[in-house]
Amino acid sequence: MVKLNVQLSKAGSAAPDAASSTQGAPAAGTLPDGDPRILEARNVTISYSGNPAVRGVSLEFPERKVTAIIGPSGCGKSTLLRSFNRMNDFVEGVGIDGQLLYRGIDIHDPRVDPMELRLKIGMVFQKPNPFPKSIYRNVAWGPKINRYDGNIKQLVEESLRKAALWDEVKDRLDDSALGLSGGQQQRLCIARALAMSPEVILMDEPCSALDPVSTSRIEDLIFELKKTFTIVIVTHNMQQAARVSDTTAFLELGKLIEVGETDQMFTKPREKRTEDYVSGRFG
Ligand SMILES: Nc1ncnc2c1ncn2[C@@H]1O[C@H](COP(=O)(O)OP(=O)(O)O)[C@@H](O)[C@H]1O
Ligand SMILES: [Mg+2]
Repeated sequence: MVKLNVQLSKAGSAAPDAASSTQGAPAAGTLPDGDPRILEARNVTISYSGNPAVRGVSLEFPERKVTAIIGPSGCGKSTLLRSFNRMNDFVEGVGIDGQLLYRGIDIHDPRVDPMELRLKIGMVFQKPNPFPKSIYRNVAWGPKINRYDGNIKQLVEESLRKAALWDEVKDRLDDSALGLSGGQQQRLCIARALAMSPEVILMDEPCSALDPVSTSRIEDLIFELKKTFTIVIVTHNMQQAARVSDTTAFLELGKLIEVGETDQMFTKPREKRTEDYVSGRFG
């Protein structure tokens, strides 16, 4: 498959030289410099064996912000989130209509290599899922198989530092990751994602299996990470959405009911359904 290498790396803010390069016109589909939209869903419908789980959703995700997706269980949050890095490719019977864009590039363009897309758009799951390997090898593994040619030890340290885990593990990097606490395992999974130098991190209820102390560490970490990364977080926990996100999108039965600044969504929602949900009347 032909890669969209040029376009994806040109589009990325991680490559400022490429972005300011004067070689040729901008790649087709990329956005003008300075456009904050890093991800966008345009009238997206996602169905499982013909049954729609996400219905006609249009949403924009600005760069270096945290966007929370909230809504009752089964409303399509995970389905929507997974579509942005084409994780739904692995699910049998999925049909996607509409457009999903990464920096203006249609991610289903046949020239887009989903593996490359997933390097740009990393993912952290509900249940921490470290590999049954050492702490070090969990972080080093992705860069190694992607033929990272820098100093891998340094990359591992940097990634663990960015994930606020380094101090807790620096003396036991060769120990099994499975010996870490749940909260540490989740920060390790974040470090593993960061080691790939993504631009976006998709988080699907990353704290739902964690205790309150570990949850608050992850929330602090999200606050730090958004200086560099764009974060989309699905959460069940409305206090968490209110604490960590800049923008909140409320979904119900697969439809986007309302999206707005988080403060507004929690204090003066425009829609009655949003108000009922954020005030705990259902869900
Ligand atoms: N792999 C799948 N196969 C068939 N249906 C699915 C699959 N994953 C999710 N669904 C259905 O799609 C709807 C949305 O699910 P999901 O995106 O997981 O919601 P949420 O994350 O908001 O709880 C639900 O009705 C769910 O049963
Ligand atoms: Mg879910």
